[in-house]
Amino acid sequence: MFTGCSPEEEITTITFNLGRDPTGAHYAIIELFEETYPNIKVQVVESPQDASLQHDLYVTRFAGKDNSIDVIALDVIWIAEFARAGWLLPLDDLALTLPMDDFLPGPVEACTYRDTLFAIPWFTDAGLLYYRRDLLNEYGFDEPETWNDLQIIVDTIRRDNPQMNGFILQAEQYEGLICNVMEFIWSHGGSVWDESGHWRTATPETEKAIQTLIDFIRTDDIIPRGVLTYQEEESRHIFQDGRAIFLRNWPYVWELANNPATGSNVVGNVGIAPLPGEKPGLHAATLGGWNLGISAFSDHPDESRKLIRFFMDYHHMKQFSLEGGRLPTRMSLYKDPDILQRSPHFEDLFEVFINARPRPVTPHYSQISDIMQVNIHRALLGRISVREALERIDAEVLALFERYGK
Ligand code: GLC
Repeated sequence: MFTGCSPEEEITTITFNLGRDPTGAHYAIIELFEETYPNIKVQVVESPQDASLQHDLYVTRFAGKDNSIDVIALDVIWIAEFARAGWLLPLDDLALTLPMDDFLPGPVEACTYRDTLFAIPWFTDAGLLYYRRDLLNEYGFDEPETWNDLQIIVDTIRRDNPQMNGFILQAEQYEGLICNVMEFIWSHGGSVWDESGHWRTATPETEKAIQTLIDFIRTDDIIPRGVLTYQEEESRHIFQDGRAIFLRNWPYVWELANNPATGSNVVGNVGIAPLPGEKPGLHAATLGGWNLGISAFSDHPDESRKLIRFFMDYHHMKQFSLEGGRLPTRMSLYKDPDILQRSPHFEDLFEVFINARPRPVTPHYSQISDIMQVNIHRALLGRISVREALERIDAEVLALFERYGK
């Protein structure tokens, strides 16, 4: 038994709940935390990486007022819903002790519900295009600026390399599908939800965007059909095995694909760029990212606040980003020489990160996402037309708003 503590300094164990993180970079920070606070132990509780599955698991536990969750990593899209349900502690007091004006504004906004901060941004995400720099160089191509450029590059390279996949992404029926689809929609000038909160997907731009995606998969053989069952990790593995020319994924892939210890076959041959658009410059990235909050049912809010503060410290966030390749939420880190040496694209792509676009911000987002996932996946499988899918989405989302409000 540990005898270094007096009885009043008993050890408190808090749980840190997060989805499985392929980078594993949080463990070193937790170790440091436990050294700094010897009377607090952190038990890491990992759920599956699939954001939709995680959401449903947490909803069940919160609905049962489960007190075993202390600190929780929250996807940007859950915060309005969980805050409105009363499942998260307000963290404005914690924010007073942090340099909040150093944090990226998009994620901070996503953590705010009704003018109250319910989580602190931990790392952010934006959809990016990874490509095989060696192959593009060999064939004399620059990074594609448009979807048409991408198609030409794939067709040309595959003529000599028919075994290669062209472009892979995530199109299983889960949250990642919506991230990918929104990027197609925005990069064709479409949207689902305008500034005034008016919902409408059945527009020519959105129809064209999804049709392009479907043609890439079903007609043009640019995207293999396998993507209909891929999440982030399946697609990363195919790319880093050297079996695809292009990959759409989040920033964490850079560090893993360039690290020989992960078994990557493409170390040093990876390029990274903004996703293409229908026209040059019309590119878009979905805003993702994870934020640390505290369960309203936690018995250890003070210790939980300490852990969150620790993760947000400049040096700890720096270490986390250096080891895991995650995008930091503190803007000053994008000027840090060590970070820029390890991830030079942080400087070039800062504009993409800061302009990443949020999915609809509403406490009903999960239901909206489910409606979109089901109908779009059916269209991708060829079971219904794009038009039919969009009309169904609009009818179901409007019925939802009528029942519950926005
Ligand atoms: C990433 C993003 C998150 C998104 C998820 C979808 O984890 O950070 O926001 O919902 O991918 O798979």
